[in-house]
Amino acid sequence: MTIWQDLRDHAEAVKSRRIAELFENDNRAAEFTAEFGGFMFDYSKTNIDAKARSLLLRLAEKQGVAEKRAAMFAGKKINETERRAVLHTALRNLDGEVMVDGHDVMPAVRETHARMTAFARDIRAGRYTGQGGAITDVVNIGIGGSDLGPAMATLALAPYHNGPRVHFVSNVDGAHIHDTLRGLNPETTLVVVASKTFTTIETMTNAETARRWMAAAVADPGAQFAALSTAAEKTAAFGIDGSRVFGFADWVGGRYSMWGPIGLSLMLAIGPENFDAMLAGAAAMDAHFCDAPFAENLPVLLALVGIWHNQFCDYATRAVLPYDQRLARLPAYLQQLEMESNGKRVSMDGADLPYHSGPVVWGEPGTNGQHAFYQLIHQGTRIVPCEFMLAAQGHEPDLAHQHLLLVANCLAQSEALMRGRDLAEATEIMRKKGLEGEELDRQARHRVFPGSRPSTTLLYPKLTPEVFGGIIALYEHRVFVEGVILGINSYDQWGVELGKELALALAPVLEGTADGAGKDGSTLQLAGRIRALRGV
Ligand code: F6P
Repeated sequence: MTIWQDLRDHAEAVKSRRIAELFENDNRAAEFTAEFGGFMFDYSKTNIDAKARSLLLRLAEKQGVAEKRAAMFAGKKINETERRAVLHTALRNLDGEVMVDGHDVMPAVRETHARMTAFARDIRAGRYTGQGGAITDVVNIGIGGSDLGPAMATLALAPYHNGPRVHFVSNVDGAHIHDTLRGLNPETTLVVVASKTFTTIETMTNAETARRWMAAAVADPGAQFAALSTAAEKTAAFGIDGSRVFGFADWVGGRYSMWGPIGLSLMLAIGPENFDAMLAGAAAMDAHFCDAPFAENLPVLLALVGIWHNQFCDYATRAVLPYDQRLARLPAYLQQLEMESNGKRVSMDGADLPYHSGPVVWGEPGTNGQHAFYQLIHQGTRIVPCEFMLAAQGHEPDLAHQHLLLVANCLAQSEALMRGRDLAEATEIMRKKGLEGEELDRQARHRVFPGSRPSTTLLYPKLTPEVFGGIIALYEHRVFVEGVILGINSYDQWGVELGKELALALAPVLEGTADGAGKDGSTLQLAGRIRALRGV
């Protein structure tokens, strides 16, 4: 454990050093920036110095990141608690060969990708129609990884939409599907039921509702349904013809699944060529992750910055702040990717973790966040490392002046976080406004920014499908590296199970058909009041 201890000691030793001091080295910005394929990752506005970086790089080596990475790409069953391989990368490396349990899984991946492509082309060209003609609207029903990825990506790639409108329904709250279906024409709508397991209660309940809605207007409702799932028997039992079922293997985790069949709705919106460009961007990031030395490896560096802040500086959260409105759903997507993956309490062998697992991830696009929670980031008592993301160019040439303002705001925030404003500066500003004496001192103190608050900036040229694919693959691998360093299984999610079980048991209590024996007083009181209010 000596590297851990060395890092702890170093973090303690530099705790009160101001980040700005590190820029006395004129080369700091270049030395603490890594680049690949148009991406520039600047982590110079953190308190990581050369010593911290070299210790962090050694930690990554010692924890076996390279060996685990090789095992993952080779199809080894690194998801040990579910005894599964972790091969979402195979979905975007279509020319590859990957062996799982002694056989090459790629022919099946290629075949499904080709079927998806043909289906998407048929829908988009109006060759596969609904009862009322060409499909105008697609309703994707899924939740978690079967929703967040494609929904986030569909918004991110809006400039590339040239197919049917795509809508996403996830919540079991009937309001979601009600508000989505209202105004749609069932005769020209395709419903895509996205569920790896095809058992998720929210998705199956919404799928039944959609089927009733469709059946009320369409003679053959099943013909306007497609399914994306690993559970072929269950999709058949639901009545969806095998020609419109797109399967995948259990080695694609839900939150890593947008690259294959779970991405069908996105493919319908942007077309197979743009979808494939996204895959290519992700595959390029995979190759970089596999080949680049750790000190230049974007996913490794992103992970090491995360580990430094979370494990050694004890910052409990991190804010993801895309200055890119179309990445508005990225923070929600990353919440699942990072928190479902690395929010664990035991290490791979079942022992209690001797340190914290992954941080709380949250955020909003800039500049909106600036007018909401940045107050706390600048002046609150807790430090929140900020991860800024920024495109050099937008997609709207006639609105370039707006994009420039967006960029200026992003750079201003990271500068302000690092630089701060001390009491002398704040006092001078208030003195110029005519204040003096005690009132001057009191007012000035409210205007102090402590500064030295860490941030990173990921700069990319423009949010094209390739770049977007690269960004998501970057974050996937970051999660992997952090998980390996922490010694946890990033690919299971047992923590979601208990609530699901209890919800099933509570439904009859709410209906009044079970008495809830053994439940706590608070839950019974709430259930009783709800029954009364609902007139049960
Ligand atoms: O509840 C968690 C979870 O299992 C996620 O991991 C998954 O992405 C989501 O539910 C949806 O699962 P499915 O695709 O099987 O419906």
